[in-house]
Amino acid sequence: MVKNSNLAKLQPKKTADLRVAQKPDIKTTKYSDINLKKWRDYAHILTGTLWQFPSRLKQHGHSNEYHGNYIPQIAQQMYERYTKKNDVVLDLFFGSGTSGIEAINMNRRCIGVELKDELAEKVSEKFAPKQLVTDVNIICADSTSQLAVDKVKARLEIMGEEKAQFLMLHPPYDDIIKFSDKKEDLSNCATTEEFYDMFEKVAKNGYDLLEKGRFACLIIGDSYKNSEVQPLGFECMNRMRKLGFVLKSTIVKDIQGNERGKGRTANLWRYRALAGGFSIFTHEYIFVFQKV
Ligand SMILES: C[S@@+](CC[C@H](N)C(=O)[O-])C[C@H]1O[C@@H](n2cnc3c(N)ncnc32)[C@H](O)[C@@H]1O
Repeated sequence: MVKNSNLAKLQPKKTADLRVAQKPDIKTTKYSDINLKKWRDYAHILTGTLWQFPSRLKQHGHSNEYHGNYIPQIAQQMYERYTKKNDVVLDLFFGSGTSGIEAINMNRRCIGVELKDELAEKVSEKFAPKQLVTDVNIICADSTSQLAVDKVKARLEIMGEEKAQFLMLHPPYDDIIKFSDKKEDLSNCATTEEFYDMFEKVAKNGYDLLEKGRFACLIIGDSYKNSEVQPLGFECMNRMRKLGFVLKSTIVKDIQGNERGKGRTANLWRYRALAGGFSIFTHEYIFVFQKV
């Protein structure tokens, strides 16, 4: 009798111990698949504010044919840290589709909006027909417009989503590279002030299309015009903060080694810098925000 009652007391404890052992050793945030219980396994994730990549990744669908594309390592870092598998990334300056290619590589989905129709068509060819629509949606539109917003919403609905889970913004750096002759093109603004206003319209559309609690990334560099630095990065970052985005990181990324064709003109720029009292840009910014 006594023996049995001891056994009865021991039995539940043993079951409870087993349950603890079987519990998966996983702890994640709402916006990422990073297992915080194994945080030491993520040494490749950059958590500092100075980023250096000696060269641009050119494999896995990426190439360097589009002047002004960002390096895929940025998408890799952002997606792993701020998205979950199957999430939808919205890129409102899609260009040559770096965000879409990396979304596919990392089992995410993507909607990209690009102003230039011939480019949007060419970029579509990078994806398998069965990937288009279900995994990658490319829209040709002006990202400042309501039409672009409506088109993104329609594609989100097809993908079974109400909002996107990550926002990527890599706008023209004012008029440093002219992307087209279209008046809606942010690289064609008459003044830098106009550029800021158009950027703000795109950022506002992005804000409205992004799910609450999720993250946005702005990649941008400054320019030097009219004998002074135009702080494009800080001004665009501030416009986003005014829209309600909360600034989470200001990252300075070394662009040396990631640029095309600067070698030939390096000496000329060095002379100009010495003569004009300015410094040559060797960095760009990656700002990370959260919609809270
Ligand atoms: C810096 S590039 C983006 C490059 C892209 N991240 C990549 O990796 O290929 C900026 C892009 O924005 C596009 N663009 C400019 N104004 C736009 C607008 N109003 N709406 C949509 N796209 C626009 C340009 O045609 C250009 O392709």
